[in-house]
Amino acid sequence: MPRIVLGVAGGIAAYKVVEVLRGLTESGHDVTVVPTAAALEFVGAPTWAALSGKPVNTSVWHDVEQVVHVRLGQSADLVLVAPATADLLARATHGIADDLLTNVLLTARCPIVMAPAMHTEMWQHPATQRNVAELRARGVIVLEPASGRLTGADTGPGRLPDPSAIIAAARDALRRAPSADLAGLRLLITAGGTREAIDPVRFIGNHSSGKQGFELARTAVARGAEVTVIVAHVDVEPPAGATIIRVSSGEQMHAEVARLMPESDVVVMAAAVADFRPSEVAESKVKKAETPAAISLELQPTTDILASIVASRVGSSPLIVGFAAETGDASASVLEHGRAKLARKRCDLLVVNDVSPGKAFGADDNEVVILGGHGEVTVSRASKAVVADAIWDAVLARIPAV
Ligand code: CTP
Repeated sequence: MPRIVLGVAGGIAAYKVVEVLRGLTESGHDVTVVPTAAALEFVGAPTWAALSGKPVNTSVWHDVEQVVHVRLGQSADLVLVAPATADLLARATHGIADDLLTNVLLTARCPIVMAPAMHTEMWQHPATQRNVAELRARGVIVLEPASGRLTGADTGPGRLPDPSAIIAAARDALRRAPSADLAGLRLLITAGGTREAIDPVRFIGNHSSGKQGFELARTAVARGAEVTVIVAHVDVEPPAGATIIRVSSGEQMHAEVARLMPESDVVVMAAAVADFRPSEVAESKVKKAETPAAISLELQPTTDILASIVASRVGSSPLIVGFAAETGDASASVLEHGRAKLARKRCDLLVVNDVSPGKAFGADDNEVVILGGHGEVTVSRASKAVVADAIWDAVLARIPAV
């Protein structure tokens, strides 16, 4: 049974972490809760003890003969801190060990995941941002806080990520343990399906759910990368720990990819970008009464973002990964179409996806062939998380050590 130390720092979001604890114990994890003294002002020790089934310590002066302050960190498979307050992040960065939780952080050699929660000003303060950068550089997985309503009337980034997202990040870190092999890499991922407006209420869209792009982001965060996701239209919640940029059309996506490409080590085009858009967008709603029995829509090609960033990069950086959504036809198989697309788009890796009905769109699992690496890698049907990890393995094999 994986052993998790759940550190709880003194923020009001501590009450949401009760749900994280329940989720972890109910899914078979052995959880020891280590709250700070301030955390106990928000949620008392009996709650943590009852739900974890273990006594709760905050101080290094309890059970001294058992050397708890060293043993807990040494024997943990994962240390998860939620909420991680600005103060806790600062103490962890500087190696201060003035209570049991910070002692655990100094003795742990397992993966550490931190889920920050604080007011926006505190999160954006240069001191906090430097501490987060330093922790990430050391391989600590610091999730990006969610944006939204904070305590009081204010809103902004600083909310604790959703408990289910924290649990997913913890599970990923345990699954990958102890490797933070993508640490130091800045990854840019596109996800979801773009929409091209016909008029203010209608658009041309596609079936992309965003799941594979988000799994790429989630697994990369768990492997220590700094991840930005440019998200078009999706059916699922974005993962914790990544910076999310929302767009709608292919043109908007292109602009964001071009802007962020120079500061990225790897770009993964997992989005389903529309190939055509209406030549003209009606300014007001096209009325049925004014239209004859049939109307025709003139479409013009959109920019191929993948091909354009391959053409505009200087040298071989960033590494560029494309996806190929294919159905076989009379002229060629899925794989043959994929090989032809790799030759045409000249990206470094191409992930070929069979999108025959029911095979990939919206499904939780996927099967792909990764072309362009050292040989062709076939990933037989598996969860989109497993497929994502295989893609990152192929990426790592192509870039010099960081
Ligand atoms: N892509 C892109 N910009 C577009 C269309 C596609 O960047 N305007 C990217 C997708 O994100 C994907 C790759 O190109 O990584 C291949 O997309 P796909 O739809 O399979 O190929 P197309 O280029 O549209 O070719 P075809 O429709 O002929 O299969």
